[in-house]
Amino acid sequence: MKVTVLYGGQSAEHDISILSAHNIISSLIRSEYQVDPVYITREGSWLKGKEINDFIEDSNELKLSLEDDNVSPIDINQLVEEKNIVFPALHGPNGEDGTIQGFLEVLNLPYVGCGVAASANGMDKIVSKQLFSQADLPQLPYVAFTEHDWKHEQQELIQQCEGSLLYPLFVKPANMGSSVGISRVENEAELINAVDEALKYDRRIVVEQGITADECEVAVLGNSDINLSVVGRLVKTSEFYDYDEKYINNQVEMEIPANLAPEVATRIQEYAHRAYKAIDGAGLARVDFFVTSNNDIYINEINTMPGFTEFSMYPVLWQETGINERDLIEELIQLGLRRYETKQGFEAE
Ligand SMILES: Nc1ncnc2c1ncn2[C@@H]1O[C@H](COP(=O)(O)OP(=O)(O)O)[C@@H](O)[C@H]1O
Ligand SMILES: [Mg+2]
Repeated sequence: MKVTVLYGGQSAEHDISILSAHNIISSLIRSEYQVDPVYITREGSWLKGKEINDFIEDSNELKLSLEDDNVSPIDINQLVEEKNIVFPALHGPNGEDGTIQGFLEVLNLPYVGCGVAASANGMDKIVSKQLFSQADLPQLPYVAFTEHDWKHEQQELIQQCEGSLLYPLFVKPANMGSSVGISRVENEAELINAVDEALKYDRRIVVEQGITADECEVAVLGNSDINLSVVGRLVKTSEFYDYDEKYINNQVEMEIPANLAPEVATRIQEYAHRAYKAIDGAGLARVDFFVTSNNDIYINEINTMPGFTEFSMYPVLWQETGINERDLIEELIQLGLRRYETKQGFEAE
């Protein structure tokens, strides 16, 4: 069987996507799948490379170019006719946010992972907070507003932030990822700068209560039968991780399973389960939490296409839970196919 792996993309997570794809392709090859690589360049061209049947040593080989042999612009008709299942190994905007998923739905292709709504809602920090709150999940207090609000009632919004939250605060664009556009601020002047910075990335903003806490993560796998991994913890070396620290320099150490009281770990898993259901997750997601020294738990976010490199939390959590990468990849493919078949079973009208 053949799998089309989509990777690269125009988001800030281009490089990590290539590393995820490299690891995913290795697992697929190990499971005796053939792979059609489709690379989305930083400029937004979609390039199809020649079929992969063997391990690739260097992930740089996945950076396809029209100058290479056997690389051509993608042919949508061919994609539709072949009907391979697609693994969108893309993170961040235009990958993890429902847009690619919508494109694949329109082409009527099976794909791995969350559907359109789950991807969009999981990506949007304001919508996901609203869904989490409906699901009674504990989260940090926050203030959300639009660029328009900020232009017209900046003073009121600052008062609202300062009245309901305590510095330090975290300012975030509603739709991004990889800490892009996110700032930690300690006073009003920094808050104003941070909002202006975040507005470069989105027209909707979240200002959130800052907290000193551990960051713990759970991997979720399944469609209706939902499986949860053990809890992992990021061993922190700084106040918050920026893109380079998190992904490029591999500065983040993981403690798996996290050294937590069993009832705390169970509660985190239960919250992860609820969060996944709240967004109507399918296939996979990683759910991230803050855990304070007195074991207060707050959900931070859900990632519907978490990093998938060999060092990434998601596959490593499963490894430590007893599912190796080969079985994990196999299960993700099967979940995608089953979801597709279920959808085919519904009447169009
Ligand atoms: N409210 C907060 N209190 C403390 N640290 C935070 C808070 N919000 C975010 N951070 C830090 O910033 C990082 C990135 O924020 P996050 O909301 O996870 O955005 P992204 O979608 O970019 O991963 C987190 O992993 C954490 O280290
Ligand atoms: Mg995060």
